[in-house]
Amino acid sequence: MADQRERVFSGIQPSGTFTLGNYVGAVRHWGPLQAEYDCIYSVVNMHAITVRQQPAALRKATYEAAAMLLASGIDPEQSVIFIQSEVPQHAELSWVLACNTMFGELSRMTQFKDKSKKNADNINGGLFTYPILMAADILLYNAHQVPVGVDQKQHVELSRDIAQRFNNAYSDTFVVPAPLIQKQGAKVMSLQDPAAKMSKSDPNENAYVAMDDAPEVIMRKFKRAVTDSGGEVRRAEDKPGVSNLMTIYGIMTGKDDAAIEAEFAGRGYGDFKEAVGQSVIDVFTPIQQRYGEILADKAELERILREGAEKARRIAAKTLSKVYRKVGFVSN
Ligand code: TYM
Repeated sequence: MADQRERVFSGIQPSGTFTLGNYVGAVRHWGPLQAEYDCIYSVVNMHAITVRQQPAALRKATYEAAAMLLASGIDPEQSVIFIQSEVPQHAELSWVLACNTMFGELSRMTQFKDKSKKNADNINGGLFTYPILMAADILLYNAHQVPVGVDQKQHVELSRDIAQRFNNAYSDTFVVPAPLIQKQGAKVMSLQDPAAKMSKSDPNENAYVAMDDAPEVIMRKFKRAVTDSGGEVRRAEDKPGVSNLMTIYGIMTGKDDAAIEAEFAGRGYGDFKEAVGQSVIDVFTPIQQRYGEILADKAELERILREGAEKARRIAAKTLSKVYRKVGFVSN
């Protein structure tokens, strides 16, 4: 019997190790979603080359990313997990969608503007058309929901617009997807600058926690985290550093703001930062252990990814052939 559940699709770039931001805003939710949705997850290595990558490092990071997703709760028996470049339909659909996406729409993408500032010497075509490839990722699988952090919302909304435009022009073809964004932790901020997003491309390593950081490194980064003036642990607009740490602590421990404020009443930032660090260590330690085990069995990891790619190709091929027919491509 066909799966009647709605479909979820999401992807993550293998450009270095995942951060606490990736985990809190996205990856943490991907396992639990399996209970309710038909889930497809991808390591999007084709997106990663919009920024120049060292080939050997990209290959290694791709396997590591897949292992980290499995260690974080994606079950290959329940979900499809695959490497983007192993499913050629992503690039193929991307072209058709590119012909249905406006230059003006792409020019308005805030991530393109940010990334072109950061990579002024390599503002390539891929960086500009990247949201089209992302739309292809989502639309190929007719995903209803796309769990992402806030920074990807605009891209998912563009995917919606592209799907609607195509459906209007060529008759109903794609499911129109929606971003699935959590209320808490959808934008984890840098530990060094609470006005900036936590990002793995930050040149200051103390600004982010990587999911494979050793416990003492995690603790050191939290101890060095920038807080605010005053000494009170309280969520407030003029306390962005403390508020960010409260969000992280709340998610890691399940405590709400009132409980956190009560726990640290009359205690200084030092105690608080140590507790936040420990809460992250407690969550990451078992994940890191599984991650090590998964990476140690490369043959099994390759088998899982091969099977995932086969399943993904089957679904993607159906969607692509429908699209080709609708736009008038001949098939002999
Ligand atoms: P990427 O690889 O930059 O990030 C993966 C996921 O992590 C979320 N995220 C954060 N959430 C909260 N706080 C942060 N500081 C933080 N940093 C990152 C991102 O929002 C994302 O959900 N274009 C995507 C990958 C992609 C994709 C897709 C996603 C390609 N195709 C199709 C969904 C559907 C990206 O670069 O994410």
